[in-house]
Amino acid sequence: MRWIRNRVFINMKTPKWVNVGGRWTKATPEPVQSEKTVSPKSTKNEVDGILQSLVLSKADLEEISDLMRQNMDRGLNRATNPSAVVKMFPSFVRSLPDGTEKGDFFALDLGGSNFRVLRVQLLDGDVQMTSKVYKISQGTMTGTGEQLFDYIADSLAEFKNEQGLSDVDLPLGFTFSFPCKQNGLASAELVQWTKGFSASGVEGKDVVVLLKEACARKKVALQIVALVNDTVGTLMSCAYSCSDTYIGLILGTGTNACYLEKLSNVDTWTGDDGEPRDVIINMEWGAFGTDKSLDKFRTKFDNEVDEVTLNKGKQLYEKMISGMYLGEIVRLILVKLATDGDLFGGQVSSDLKTPWKFETRFLTDIESDTSDNNAECNTILKSLGVTPSPSDLPVIRRVCAAVSTRAARLSVAGLSAVVKKIGAAELTIAVDGSLYKKHPTFKSNMEKTLKELVPGVTVKLMLSEDGSGKGAALVAAVAARLGS
Ligand code: GLC
Repeated sequence: MRWIRNRVFINMKTPKWVNVGGRWTKATPEPVQSEKTVSPKSTKNEVDGILQSLVLSKADLEEISDLMRQNMDRGLNRATNPSAVVKMFPSFVRSLPDGTEKGDFFALDLGGSNFRVLRVQLLDGDVQMTSKVYKISQGTMTGTGEQLFDYIADSLAEFKNEQGLSDVDLPLGFTFSFPCKQNGLASAELVQWTKGFSASGVEGKDVVVLLKEACARKKVALQIVALVNDTVGTLMSCAYSCSDTYIGLILGTGTNACYLEKLSNVDTWTGDDGEPRDVIINMEWGAFGTDKSLDKFRTKFDNEVDEVTLNKGKQLYEKMISGMYLGEIVRLILVKLATDGDLFGGQVSSDLKTPWKFETRFLTDIESDTSDNNAECNTILKSLGVTPSPSDLPVIRRVCAAVSTRAARLSVAGLSAVVKKIGAAELTIAVDGSLYKKHPTFKSNMEKTLKELVPGVTVKLMLSEDGSGKGAALVAAVAARLGS
């Protein structure tokens, strides 16, 4: 069987596998047509073929889970770490909060186009937060490191001023959600930018030093005690109230996970060997697949998305799962279907042709729209210059659902590897990120897939609202409690 231009399965000798969207997949037992009788329009076959290419079976997910486990082991091992794709960075956070932490802290949270400055007050298990969001422009994301860190220092100064705390120098935790090799709690070298950032002169540098230098230039007092990844902040924040939380997960602009690992399993550990004998590992699992190990599960649409990113060939697992990319995958599928005459009467508007125009929140809104007349779906498509016919609407919804379901299931393939490695019969996963929070079925799809992949373990997904900022303050507080 082969895939031909008119998107019709042509009977060859073994009608078992078809290449759809660049991925080999089992053909659905559709009626086989001969080339002569093929009509140029074969909507059902093309739509079904594309949707089928996005389906990951239980066996696929188990294979991906095993691959993730192999990657984790490579990252933790000193000999294989330099060539490992999933880096498994020790965070230097050794203890989870026990609920007794107290104090008044500042926190900074940088991980996407919104940057936040926070004041976090911890008192007897209660957390009070005041925060302000500062927009990071595209120019700042992709300009120079100095501009970026000056902007952060200016924002901190403005926040302190507005809070009447200009002269108060509270301990500060910095959530910096990019892959960093930590050398201590307050020392972290950026390995490479992800999620559309490319500010020059930062990769390979200690970002704590860069922040201190910017604060010195701007004459802002700074007492930075910890730098954490957002996954670590999320885990810490949930663990403050729920003691069996061992995994932190982000499903937002990017995706990543961290978990509590025994020091004896961390061959790359360079810190002291005293108590406590655990450390949180920032997995940086978004990089999974960079060695092509996920290629057989990727489609031609995944390749096309990768082509238009700043970090081509990298973060391939992240590009199949996270909010920055899902809208773009859907857009590419809609363009393909429209170009082939299967949607929008064959019309493709210039907006729909524009990369990144179809935002991931549109997926969320389309899949949340339960109205009989699909009002939301119509409004979104019209805003992109196309008018869907009544028969287009269910197709668009199915495309969105296929892309988001694949993402949810893939994230659980990774999680199942971590859950199995931890080996507990019961545990809580702290989760944050807009995809998880806002998408109507992401969480339920994850729960179903967890039951498929780790049936013997009771896994609870717990929203860790605002976890990344709050968590940085908690890391600072735990450090204070332990006197480190
Ligand atoms: C990207 C970053 C990672 C972060 C994740 C979620 O994958 O590399 O550090 O945790 O996005 O924000």
